[in-house]
Amino acid sequence: MRDQLLAAEKVKAIEWRDGFLYLLDQRLLPLEERWLAFDSAAAVADAIHDMVVRGAPAIGISAAYGVVLGARARLAAGGDWRAALEEDFTRLAESRPTAVNLFWALNRMRERLARLKAKDDPLAALEAEAVEIHQSDREANLTMAQYGVELIRKHQGNPQNILTHCNTGALATGGFGTALGVIRAAWLDGLIERVYADETRPWLQGSRLTAWELAGEGVPVSLNVDSAAAHLMKTQGITWVIVGADRITANGDVANKIGTYQLAVCAMHHGVRFMVVAPSSTIDMSLESGEDIPIEERAGSELLEMGGRRVAAEVAAVNPVFDVTPADLIDVIVTERGIVERPDAAKLAQLMCRKRLH
Ligand code: MRU
Repeated sequence: MRDQLLAAEKVKAIEWRDGFLYLLDQRLLPLEERWLAFDSAAAVADAIHDMVVRGAPAIGISAAYGVVLGARARLAAGGDWRAALEEDFTRLAESRPTAVNLFWALNRMRERLARLKAKDDPLAALEAEAVEIHQSDREANLTMAQYGVELIRKHQGNPQNILTHCNTGALATGGFGTALGVIRAAWLDGLIERVYADETRPWLQGSRLTAWELAGEGVPVSLNVDSAAAHLMKTQGITWVIVGADRITANGDVANKIGTYQLAVCAMHHGVRFMVVAPSSTIDMSLESGEDIPIEERAGSELLEMGGRRVAAEVAAVNPVFDVTPADLIDVIVTERGIVERPDAAKLAQLMCRKRLH
């Protein structure tokens, strides 16, 4: 299946070429495919904040390359470049608060920095680390896709109808996706009849990104408003809700795009299985439960306006962009280290102390 999956890889969102970071501007998709070039850590931090690049793994990978760009500029400026680089670490860390992959990637870059020997070329070492972070995410996608497909094959008659939320595909990762990677692989395996994609207000990652990725590969996909999900579970024979994650805490609680929690509640009510697919870089063992996860709040204007025009009455808006699904609503978490059915603290602890499989 690995070769089949690699052959199906068409879209990518991040490229590191000739010492520059290139990001596909996801704000313009699907109407326009425009790549932007980045040569500074501050510009990468802004791109993360402004949603040029989004999706937990993609944010982490971009931040790692941001550190390389920062280091290059600081080295060229001379003086205490390591101390100066701290400013870039801080700037990148402040770009978005919820996806732990950002902080995981920055930590890896910081640890690589700490291991530098006098004979090492610092820039080459940091670049190699960022490339490794990027490549290992791609590998993790491939492994998770295979685990996820096994679960789909095992649990129901085929082909099946799946519901997904937000965008967890090639655009959100270094490979071809987490939840969407599983869905893609299941489609290639003949296990899928139709994918229902929540439009995902207010940024429309579902309509603009997920629908675009799936349609581009000929996967049958129907778009629905977020609030249709319960109705679809009741009427369309949906067997799985499959989503990604921005942070998974030690007890198995999952932060993901706003709306995921209500999907899990509805799935439980309708007897629909609920799968979370995320690399182990999304697991934050330092937090006991989802209550500790910082939830990003974005500007109210994202709800009050459409295409720059006011559509709402003159009221305030509340715009949390992630929510937390409690572990007891989740049937299975799929990672590249293995799968965790009915997640809890003991199972997560066991998963995280295993050796990496790739
Ligand atoms: O605000 P976004 O678009 O960065 O939110 C993305 C999500 O919530 C995804 O589901 C999550 O990051 C997993 S991506 C593989």
